Amino acid sequence: MATKLIKGAQIITMDERETVLSGDVLIDGDRIVRIAESIEEEADLVIDARGKTLLPGFIQTHIHLCQTLFRGRADDLELLDWLKKRIWPLEAAHDEESVYYSAMLGIGELIRSGTTTILDMETVHHTGSAFQAIESSGIRAVSGKVMMDHGGDVPAGLIETTEQSLQESVDLLERWHGRANGRISYAFCPRFVVSCTEELLLGVREMSKRHNVKVHTHASENRGEIALVERERGMRNVLYLDHIGLATPDLILAHCVWLDDEEKRVIRERGVKVTHCPGSNLKLSSGIAEVPELLGRHIPVGIGSDGAPCNNTLDMFSEMRMTALIQKTLHGPTSMDARTVLRMATMGGAEVLGMEREIGSVEVGKKADLILLELNEFHAYPSFEADPYSRVVYSAGYSDVDTVLIDGELVMRGKMLLTVDKGTVL
Ligand code: GUN
Ligand code: FE
Repeated sequence: MATKLIKGAQIITMDERETVLSGDVLIDGDRIVRIAESIEEEADLVIDARGKTLLPGFIQTHIHLCQTLFRGRADDLELLDWLKKRIWPLEAAHDEESVYYSAMLGIGELIRSGTTTILDMETVHHTGSAFQAIESSGIRAVSGKVMMDHGGDVPAGLIETTEQSLQESVDLLERWHGRANGRISYAFCPRFVVSCTEELLLGVREMSKRHNVKVHTHASENRGEIALVERERGMRNVLYLDHIGLATPDLILAHCVWLDDEEKRVIRERGVKVTHCPGSNLKLSSGIAEVPELLGRHIPVGIGSDGAPCNNTLDMFSEMRMTALIQKTLHGPTSMDARTVLRMATMGGAEVLGMEREIGSVEVGKKADLILLELNEFHAYPSFEADPYSRVVYSAGYSDVDTVLIDGELVMRGKMLLTVDKGTVL
């Protein structure tokens, strides 16, 4: 197996001891095998990283690759109108090729801005095309087709029967789960309670248990959505999902803006995971999630940029900054420090996906999912003595990402994307 030696970087490890050091990292195949101040060993490839900062790749725990092409079409609507008037008709119009290029375009932007793992939700049809883009690009992804067998105002091209929805999901799971050296995993993706019959959700519970995979859905994003769920199901979102038996450690809930106390208690007790989507919550006027409180209750919270039309960028740097700034404005300067935010974007995301032993930090034995930043003198804190977390969260951006490795493979080098389909316009 090929070895790679990254030499002379400032390493922000994100390990439990929060080690920051200056040194070398040796990679053998897909794993980190040594980290030391100096490694004098032959390697198939030596990357000179002097003056650069090495970090674990970012982990985004809520993305819709299929929506990358829809930017700018629905900038001033709230969630339910946005879905009905714009997003669902656009998803219904997708074909195999457009899903592929939408995914490839999104993946290109994600890798370029340092994201190496995503939790993704596709549309009803053509999810195989998105998996093809994921496989050939090299990104690590947990993804699945969206499931919707219920609800008004859904275009005919998107509505499916309960049986079709479950069968197609299982077919995709059998085809893609574990592919690409384990970089690809399948997750069942019931869109949100509003779009799913109880029968479908019960089927998802059975199938996800049987195949031991994650369930990824939206919950408690918008007040109109919550009112609709209460009207139709007689309960708030999370309590309804618990009533179905879906509230388990394998459930990942995107948004969670308007949780009540009982819902927070259920999330904590059942080991449910949460994804914060600050840009999307602001742009769709959904509200502000109580992230410090959720973290204070020891609920794992990751960060995701949601679909591109929600916030017009898939850039984790901008999502991290928003995560910090929103809370500081509301709750004061110490409510959301940069280290906590960077942890959410790395180890926090790994915990949400149940991959904390594999990814999320620069440590021996972990997968070599790494990014090198070139933080030049233009940035505010050039010295190692400065807070490295602040430096990344507040003064770095996607154009500082120089090199990206996923599973030990170079996917970007010298700011050049190496694995993204050249037919995709970036
Ligand atoms: N809730 C149900 N579907 C969606 C979607 O596509 N995006 C967002 N942000 N929320 C949703
Ligand atoms: Fe979403």
